[in-house]
Amino acid sequence: MNANIDEFIAGLPKAELHLHLEGSLEPEQMFEFARRNDIDIPYTSIAEVKAAYQFSKLQDFLDIYYMGMNVLQTEQDFFDLTAAYLRKVAAENTRHVEVFFDPQGHTERGISFKTAITGIHNALTQVGGELGVSFKLIMCFLRHLDEASAIKTLNQAKPFKHLLTGVGLDSSELGNPPEKFEIVFKMAKDQGYKLVAHAGEEGPVEYVYDTLDLLNVDRIDHGNRCMDDAILVARIAKQKIALTVCPLSNLKLQVVTDMTKHPIKAMLESGIIATINSDDPAYFGGYMNDNYRSVAHPLNLSIAELTLLAKNSFIGSFLPQAAIDKHVAAIDDYAASFKF
Ligand code: HPA
Ligand code: ZN
Repeated sequence: MNANIDEFIAGLPKAELHLHLEGSLEPEQMFEFARRNDIDIPYTSIAEVKAAYQFSKLQDFLDIYYMGMNVLQTEQDFFDLTAAYLRKVAAENTRHVEVFFDPQGHTERGISFKTAITGIHNALTQVGGELGVSFKLIMCFLRHLDEASAIKTLNQAKPFKHLLTGVGLDSSELGNPPEKFEIVFKMAKDQGYKLVAHAGEEGPVEYVYDTLDLLNVDRIDHGNRCMDDAILVARIAKQKIALTVCPLSNLKLQVVTDMTKHPIKAMLESGIIATINSDDPAYFGGYMNDNYRSVAHPLNLSIAELTLLAKNSFIGSFLPQAAIDKHVAAIDDYAASFKF
């Protein structure tokens, strides 16, 4: 039965809604880009890189994540990074991706907004097109920087607006509450962007309320801590605010202590549109199917629950309704024809 569950997950059509492209930088690629761009990295072997990926909290990871992205220098680097990610997820039956990038992580070190977005978008169009993976692109503001820097980034994005679907908010949550970005989120909404934000990963339940009330987001990234508040749970379910949950990230960053305590099942039982995603797969030990498997077994998720998670990944996406309906029907067909 367990092997069958893994097979079921592997073939399940799914969408990924929470993926930082810079977090898909595998150690092998880090060395390759460092070599071709003549950039120093503080590691001498892949084993040494992997050994450094031990985190007790979000900030431990972010320090290494920002160091890692220094190797991304040219449009080709951004193209290759994105292409490698798409090939991996396409092989896992991921049919649609809504991916993040961190423009300020690049512009702050002298790489232009244009270099990053052009490389990423060309790969999404060309390689995604070849693989049959559709996409939406979302730029995130770094919350450890000030709002003026986020506004500057929103302005830099203007010539590329047609390539972008949304804006998001990531990086160090604690001490950088949603209210810090109220103005820039309002500006982005007025410009027609969809809005998402990381909330309730490490931050308290109040940050989730403020993300809804002050930032007016369409979707919440992570959202684990909302489970501490029954009123908030009911509201998120009623307003159909999807949560993009990342099980292996939660384990690696010690947001959960072990997977038998992961809230994804309780989220589904509360009627929340919960989804499964990989966040930063090169750092947290797995892509989409690994993330599904990581909770399926410890939580004894049923076929119906796994099917619902896959449907939610399209229902919570920014695809038009007709495309969502088509993907949901494909999931029903797949589940109906799967032989256990
Ligand atoms: N949380 C906050 N910021 C991030 C993350 C995350 O999980 N991944 C990349 N930037
Ligand atoms: Zn994230």
